Amino acid sequence: MNFILNQIKNSYRPELESCRLFHGRGGRYADYSHITVDWFSPVFYIKFYAEDNLGELNLPKLLIEKFGKPVVLHLRYENSFKFFDITEDEAREVVAVEDDLKYKLKMGKNQNHGFFLDMKEGRKFIQDKISGGKVLNLFAYTCSFSVVAKKFGATEVHNVDVSKSFLEWGRENHHLNGQDTEGIFFHKKNVLKSMGWLSKKGPFDVVVYDPPSFQRSRFDYAKDYQKVIRQLPKVVKSGGYVISCLNSPFEKSEFIVDLYRNELQDFDYVNTLYSPAEFEEENKENGVKICIFRRR
Ligand SMILES: C[S@@+](CC[C@H](N)C(=O)[O-])C[C@H]1O[C@@H](n2cnc3c(N)ncnc32)[C@H](O)[C@@H]1O
Repeated sequence: MNFILNQIKNSYRPELESCRLFHGRGGRYADYSHITVDWFSPVFYIKFYAEDNLGELNLPKLLIEKFGKPVVLHLRYENSFKFFDITEDEAREVVAVEDDLKYKLKMGKNQNHGFFLDMKEGRKFIQDKISGGKVLNLFAYTCSFSVVAKKFGATEVHNVDVSKSFLEWGRENHHLNGQDTEGIFFHKKNVLKSMGWLSKKGPFDVVVYDPPSFQRSRFDYAKDYQKVIRQLPKVVKSGGYVISCLNSPFEKSEFIVDLYRNELQDFDYVNTLYSPAEFEEENKENGVKICIFRRR
């Protein structure tokens, strides 16, 4: 665990915005491929993806000794949590911060705490493209794309998710940033059954398509990813963009690019974005793929 501590020492500063500090999952450090450490000021958020009794005991202790900051330990393999130098209630006050925007976290509850650090480049992309435009945010989760789009001048954002509580969380994220929700819509709908209905709200300047790889009875990328692609012409404006994401380690961006090439004639591939640099991946294609397309 001293190895991880040394890695973190190199990049950690208390004033850092939320970020990944150690990305063992990236496969670069074979002995630590089951561990990640994130910084959500003022806490270190450690995840263990496999049981490691000694590591689970030592790493929180070492971080507290070295940096004097509290730790939330998430044993992801069994979805349990331990809190060090912070209570569960205090941990509920912690927020993620990125580019001066805040996002409410729920540590100690769900498998995911509400904010995906690896989607930073996708959120950045929308900043440049959205002034005065309309966004369709498919699989919106806690609406981080919506918060960014609102800040950078979107006139309308339509957030779509099957989960009412995630959309409510998204609304809170807007309020947390002092944003009113005028022009921000929250649709509790199954994307796979709603593209026709959503087309009446469009056409859109930017469509975010960021589904889970697999969620039982809701979405399975292997058969469903292309179904949504086929319906994109209904919702994307001419000249508009699609931010098309996939986080399966079993597919490369080529999988996405090929689907667009086969299904859509008038959408050009622009480029692929990946997780931010601090997510040290052996191969960036193993992490999140964020493929950008533009309609002619
Ligand atoms: C990977 S998360 C999206 C992350 C989000 N784009 C972000 O950057 O924070 C996937 C979301 O898809 C939702 N979901 C899964 N299947 C769905 C479906 N068929 N229709 C609508 N939402 C769905 C889940 O509830 C979850 O919130």
